[in-house]
Amino acid sequence: MRVYILENEAAIGKAVGDLICEAVISKPDIVLGLATGMSPIPSYERMIARYRAGELSFARVSTFNLDEYCDLPREHKNSFYSFMRQNLFSHVDLPPERIHFLDGGAADEAAECARYEAAIEAAGGIDLQLLGIGRNGHIGFNEPAAHFTISSYKTALAPSTIAANSRFFSDVPMPRHAMTMGVGSILRSRRIVLIATGSAKADAVKTMLEGEVSPRCPATALREHPDAAIYLDPAAAALLDK
Ligand code: F6R
Repeated sequence: MRVYILENEAAIGKAVGDLICEAVISKPDIVLGLATGMSPIPSYERMIARYRAGELSFARVSTFNLDEYCDLPREHKNSFYSFMRQNLFSHVDLPPERIHFLDGGAADEAAECARYEAAIEAAGGIDLQLLGIGRNGHIGFNEPAAHFTISSYKTALAPSTIAANSRFFSDVPMPRHAMTMGVGSILRSRRIVLIATGSAKADAVKTMLEGEVSPRCPATALREHPDAAIYLDPAAAALLDK
């Protein structure tokens, strides 16, 4: 695991955005695993800027997002699909048919999760997975649990996740469930990049990097991955010993 501490969110956005752009340039049909939330926004801005400068195309890229809320229409402004449209997809030339999401409204959840895993496999697997981390150490919506999860599934959101994200919901209550890639789905990616910024993430970052590998902090599983890079700002890295 490589850990980079950069001066601020903007520097991380430039470094990670450039890393993703270089990966797309060297493999134009790359399969990207994408995250929502505040952490990846500066990276998406950097990718959009370089696309607008004519430096790369997303025309052959495929994307698989980590997770989606249940019981929230895809068109709702707070769906992760809407988030991605607003923050990346509507600004680049990524063809809609190459964009993949779990369907949080699917009636048969097990079949939907199996479909998603099969679609990832049919695309050749995820080349590069972008992640944030929850204050409780979640990755995707894999909340602290007794076991690591192997593949996509429907999950109940932890109270701390609901507390962190309910501020974004004004017209409807925040959903209590989501569908998410499992920790195993994430670890099957060839390369992983995680971003954590701000003091609210410092405890989770310390456990991820220096605590016992345990499903009580799902992000600790990343220590088992052969090619994971962690990008931190000084506030998120503040509690690290090393
Ligand atoms: C988002 C996701 C979550 C977030 C995490 C951090 O698709 O799966 O694990 O990455 O909750 O969120 P932010 O970046 O908003 O702090």
